[in-house]
Amino acid sequence: VRRIEVGLGDRSYPILIGEGLLDRTEELLAPFARHGRLVVVTDSNVWRLHGEAIAARGLELLPIILPQGEEAKSWPALTGLVDRLLGLGIERSDHILAFGGGAIGDVTGFAAAIMKRGCSYVQIPTTLLAQVDSSVGGKTAINAAAGKNLVGAFHQPAAVLIDPATLDTLPERELRAGYAEVVKYGLIGDPGFFAWCDANAEALIAEIAPRSSMRSKPASAPRRRSWARTSGRRAESGRCSTSATRSAMRSRPRPASAQGCFMAKRWRSGWPSPSASRPSAASARPPMRSASRRICGGWACR
Ligand SMILES: NC(=O)c1ccc[n+]([C@@H]2O[C@H](COP(=O)([O-])OP(=O)(O)OC[C@H]3O[C@@H](n4cnc5c(N)ncnc54)[C@H](O)[C@@H]3O)[C@@H](O)[C@H]2O)c1
Repeated sequence: VRRIEVGLGDRSYPILIGEGLLDRTEELLAPFARHGRLVVVTDSNVWRLHGEAIAARGLELLPIILPQGEEAKSWPALTGLVDRLLGLGIERSDHILAFGGGAIGDVTGFAAAIMKRGCSYVQIPTTLLAQVDSSVGGKTAINAAAGKNLVGAFHQPAAVLIDPATLDTLPERELRAGYAEVVKYGLIGDPGFFAWCDANAEALIAEIAPRSSMRSKPASAPRRRSWARTSGRRAESGRCSTSATRSAMRSRPRPASAQGCFMAKRWRSGWPSPSASRPSAASARPPMRSASRRICGGWACR
């Protein structure tokens, strides 16, 4: 298991990354439970596919199931979530577990930010995008009628637990969307990494995508090789795949974030070493956003 400390003074938190990490949820989640109970905010899809994987013996998980995707980042979903949390007697010292993709992480983080003027939350991201980008950095939000992510707060998680094995069930389109975020980190600030992404995209996606055929099975199905390990090997293959990279880029037309860049660089064990050191959230965000706007043509904010 790889541990990365996000150093933010009294808001510092660890990111744990490891294939099979969810097999250790009992030990990993216990510190965040109160009286052996932990509220899990998730969606029906993720709960069906991976709920069993985080069902820790000795811990009572209280799932709150939200709609999938952007519907979870709406006022009705947020108010419903807050009411449920209050109904469960959540205290300010409690932790809420966000278990799902970026949408679940965003709405759960925001609910945690406003519950009792701020309680803690832990992220277990289950999409590639959420693992390399949205789960780290504390940006939380819901959408408003006027636009996406317009209502939110900065609220850092207490911990981020990443098990790449959850990607086994991810549909190829979502995988490509997450890979597009990874490619953008190279475009924005690391030409060597971008070249590596370009050369290896097709092979990587071809290898990982068939896993999505397992998506109807629970997470207890045999786990396959991790994206990280695979990528280490593929880095040596040198295959050119500009069209695959472009196609991955097209599937998620949204700007990258600074914390995602930091996350991806640390997460991709076995990938080319990053040329830049870890940026602080404050120093890295403005250039990242402006660069991504140049590259992506000024998409709506997120
Ligand atoms: N906070 C940030 O810094 C930040 C950064 C980037 C994106 N975001 C936000 O993230 C959201 C997009 O997140 P996303 O791309 O993860 O998509 P998502 O959260 O909308 O999930 C997409 C779909 O994937 C499914 N899914 C999730 N994990 C799965 C798994 N392991 N196997 C099978 N299916 C799975 C979900 O049920 C859902 O149907 C957007 O709302 C965006 O604004 C936030």
